[in-house]
Amino acid sequence: MAPTSSNIVTGGRGKDWIRWTVSVLLGCCIGILFFYTTGQMSSYETSYPRAFHPPAPVKNSTANGETNSMQSSLYKGSLEFFNKLPKVRVPSINCAALFEGIEKEVQNAKSLMKSSPKKIIPDKDILNDASNCDKFVRDRQYIMSTLSREEEEYPIAYSMVVFKEVEQVERLLRAIYRPQNLYCFHVDKKSPENFYIAVRQISNCFENVFIASKRIDVQWGQYSVLEADLICMEELLKKSRKWKYFINLTGQEFPLKTNLELVKILKTYNGANDIEGTVKRRNMNRFKDLPTPPYNITPMKGSVHIVASRPFVDFVLNDPKAKEFHEWDKKAGIPDESFFTTLNHNPQLGAPGAFTGKDPETHPEKKPFNTRFKNWGDWPFDYPCHGKRVRMVCIFGIGDLPLLMQRKEFFSNKFYLDYEPLAYDCMEELHYNRTMAAYMLPFDNSYYKNLSYVRNHVKVKW
Ligand SMILES: *[C@@H]1O[C@H](CO)[C@@H](O)[C@H](O)[C@H]1NC(C)=O
Ligand SMILES: *[C@@H]1O[C@H](CO)[C@@H](O)[C@H](O)[C@H]1NC(C)=O
Ligand SMILES: *[C@@H]1O[C@H](CO)[C@@H](O)[C@H](O)[C@H]1NC(C)=O
Ligand SMILES: *[C@@H]1O[C@H](CO)[C@@H](O)[C@H](O)[C@H]1NC(C)=O
Repeated sequence: MAPTSSNIVTGGRGKDWIRWTVSVLLGCCIGILFFYTTGQMSSYETSYPRAFHPPAPVKNSTANGETNSMQSSLYKGSLEFFNKLPKVRVPSINCAALFEGIEKEVQNAKSLMKSSPKKIIPDKDILNDASNCDKFVRDRQYIMSTLSREEEEYPIAYSMVVFKEVEQVERLLRAIYRPQNLYCFHVDKKSPENFYIAVRQISNCFENVFIASKRIDVQWGQYSVLEADLICMEELLKKSRKWKYFINLTGQEFPLKTNLELVKILKTYNGANDIEGTVKRRNMNRFKDLPTPPYNITPMKGSVHIVASRPFVDFVLNDPKAKEFHEWDKKAGIPDESFFTTLNHNPQLGAPGAFTGKDPETHPEKKPFNTRFKNWGDWPFDYPCHGKRVRMVCIFGIGDLPLLMQRKEFFSNKFYLDYEPLAYDCMEELHYNRTMAAYMLPFDNSYYKNLSYVRNHVKVKW
């Protein structure tokens, strides 16, 4: 029953006593909870108060000098806190063994997926469920509490471009949902009507989830992709003054970090953006018919996934230089791959959080890209793929779980629910285990603190 080190986000090295304490604590909580839930599954009626807090954290310093308010000992008496966190267990499969790559369990999983293939839940069924919000939120165990002051004081804004399969979109939302954050869905205009209505219905269940007011026909490689994101960005900025960072997602990704971990990392970033960029790998054809860009700008190419500070988002939307470059970039090929990264890697523009280091090239050690783990199969994003490749990108299968567990990135891309669905199920189990463990373990931020883009960025008062 006690968790192995594989299901815990390990913090400091060699802190065996912490691991030991955590194992005992986790084992204890889960033991009690198992006892509790197996008997009373159908009458699980706990409702989550909006602002539930664990006992006031005691400030103490960890080895790396960071204040760590989540010392394990604080939660010894607080079973109530952990009982409120959802537990996810994949039936009939030992996910922990899959994360360790144990061949026998891999075979078990494969034959199980063959003998009982997953049926994706039809959009209209989820639409139905979401028409009773109280029940929807309760049955699916959404986390309706901020969980800690540290997280409450550090909200994150999400933009999610989605186009199909409500089941996967809903499970992603559920994994990242917290009442203090803000979520904007952009539903593609071409999406089936049932999909749109279901996403809208789900949004109606939460005060802090909304659908972008304008729907755009998203065509890959055209201006519309960028526009979809800008609409969400703008509305997120208008709706709340509080959020600190912006993260954009698609419906086919899954978190590798918990909300508390993201908050701790983003606080370490301290205003820096993590936006991928390359000059070497860009395709000059995309710019060939264009006039010289304004302000001595070097156009870059980068991933469409970004982690950006609030002042950067504000700059992107409102700064006159950014607007001028936007006009220029609209005429380039695949503008969404050049807009954000160019603003982030031309520090003469003064974009908040922009990279001021020497070499903007993405590099696994020198300038890693921690926003997204996406396996493209070529440098610098080249890893063996144990799933299948679709247009170069690895669609993760169960064989990819051991690698996914090790990664330092925020989110992983991508999963198909109809391809080795146990991979996604186990990611979910791991994520909820980690959500709990993150409150018991110190967090070691030394890797993030030392990143070149964190050490070298345009700093602004904020
Ligand atoms: C999650 O935690 C439970 C309880 O400790 C454990 O049995 C299970 O193997 C863990 N799952 C993963 C994926 O680590
Ligand atoms: C802080 O932690 C250290 C060791 O980790 C311990 O010796 C010290 O007593 C703690 N201080 C407080 C105020 O808890
Ligand atoms: C965010 O992600 C979507 C989906 O991949 C993408 O279309 C969009 O361009 C991204 N937005 C930003 C801000 O790069
Ligand atoms: C910090 O990062 C640099 C590369 O940017 C690396 O060479 C160095 O080993 C890192 N230091 C630590 C303590 O991780």
